[in-house]
Amino acid sequence: FTLPIPKNEPVLSYAPGTPERAALKEALRSLKSQELDIPMIIGGQEVRTGQVVRIAPPHELSHTLGYFHKGGKEEVEQAIRAALNAKEAWENMAWEQRLSIFLKAAELIAGPYRAKLNAATMLGQSKNVFQAEIDSACEMVDFLRFNAKFAEQIYREQPESAAGMWNRMEHRPLEGFIFALTPFNFTSIAGNLPTAPAMMGNVVVWKPAETQIYSAHVLMEIFRKAGLPDGVINLIFVDGPVAGEVIFSHPEFAGLHFTGSTATFQHLWRTIGNNIDRYKYYPRIVGETGGKDFVVAHASADAKALAVALVRGAFEYQGQKCSAASRAYIPANLWEEVKQYMLEDLASMKMGSPEDFTNFINAVIDEKAFNKITAYIDAAKRAPHVELVAGGNYDKSKGYFIEPTILRTDDPMYTTMCEEIFGPVLTVYVYQPENYEDTLSLVNQTSPYGLTGALFAQDRYAIELGTKKLRHAAGNFYINDKPTGAVVGQQPFGGGRASGTNDKAGSILNLLRWVSPRAIKETF
Ligand code: ALA
Repeated sequence: FTLPIPKNEPVLSYAPGTPERAALKEALRSLKSQELDIPMIIGGQEVRTGQVVRIAPPHELSHTLGYFHKGGKEEVEQAIRAALNAKEAWENMAWEQRLSIFLKAAELIAGPYRAKLNAATMLGQSKNVFQAEIDSACEMVDFLRFNAKFAEQIYREQPESAAGMWNRMEHRPLEGFIFALTPFNFTSIAGNLPTAPAMMGNVVVWKPAETQIYSAHVLMEIFRKAGLPDGVINLIFVDGPVAGEVIFSHPEFAGLHFTGSTATFQHLWRTIGNNIDRYKYYPRIVGETGGKDFVVAHASADAKALAVALVRGAFEYQGQKCSAASRAYIPANLWEEVKQYMLEDLASMKMGSPEDFTNFINAVIDEKAFNKITAYIDAAKRAPHVELVAGGNYDKSKGYFIEPTILRTDDPMYTTMCEEIFGPVLTVYVYQPENYEDTLSLVNQTSPYGLTGALFAQDRYAIELGTKKLRHAAGNFYINDKPTGAVVGQQPFGGGRASGTNDKAGSILNLLRWVSPRAIKETF
């Protein structure tokens, strides 16, 4: 192997007086002073349809960041053609050359583009500076560097050969094109879903969430600047059903790389199943979907560490992480202390625009999310057996602001203990400490999901019991830490059950889904 094992990209501080802070402030100012005209990128060409849609920061709805050009059926067909035209040259390029392009993209993001990509994420998706830094800078760079290393490992791994023969494994890309359907909540996930298959020699049609187009456009600029050939990744802005109709009926559809809701993923899987006899190839279906992520504490847990993890895990990025802590099971002996620590922590958190770096809480992504989250809060305010512990207020006059909200319920099956809300709402169920084992069963059975979860305990037997009983309840399981913030190369991310196919983003397992190996035996 020639590539060194990468080190995770360091998280910069952005403290007053640092060069990164000055660069980011300048990037924010520069982006805010323009109205971008954002085209689709198909076959390396900028495609403008004239049918434009306005983009505003979720925290400042009166401001226009720019407009994107919306496409239809024709642009989807064009994108598939462009991808297929690029295919032969791309898959025949030496893999070292292909990987170099993505390593260069990582360098550009870590260096000259860091401020612009972070600023676009902060403005377009309403992320505070730290949340933007760990996402669009560090995690995006890590995905690119670690995947390049894993790809090298895959290509170099070769079978044994007996005397008189030479066995080889050719890690071919899939035949056809890959569809990357990406979410708003992580710029890095949006960037990883098209680039991981592309690294392995595949060509891609990439449809980002409308609410992430502003930063997706910057990512695409970086990939092209790094030398990505025209047509390898085609960026389209088309309504889901329109794109789906063309893509899933195409004989060369070879794979779906998805992050988004469980309902959408199930719908797409059914559509692909219904079309199965049309395809040349059994499509690879890789998806990371919803979560109803838990934090369960044993009576021996450290109350302060638990409270910090709950607040961070539930309210970072307004709870809009598939990994966010959203249901907590706390023993009665700890509850009052944990509550006090959480209330103190929340009191120190300001809400507002991410352009003011002292604001921890920013806006939720759009009106649909705002309405959905506030409907849960309103219903909880009226529900018997539910106490409003913190927050509960919201306001959309300037942007989609919702206070971090903590509910306490006596009913462990109350709606907000079971359903994914995807917003800043944490529901707590307080149990009697002697019922620890039953509570673990409850945690395991309450939700159909299996993405992330955390167990807090100092007692070793309690840790062992929880780890065993919750084996299938989470694909990322944290002991004495919050359930968010997986780091590429350290905690490969993904879960099973209704949370996805658990192909672990940013790992060798994921990359292996994008190759179809040919075993070659040559005898002499
Ligand atoms: N990978 C993200 C996290 O762990 C979703 O929070």
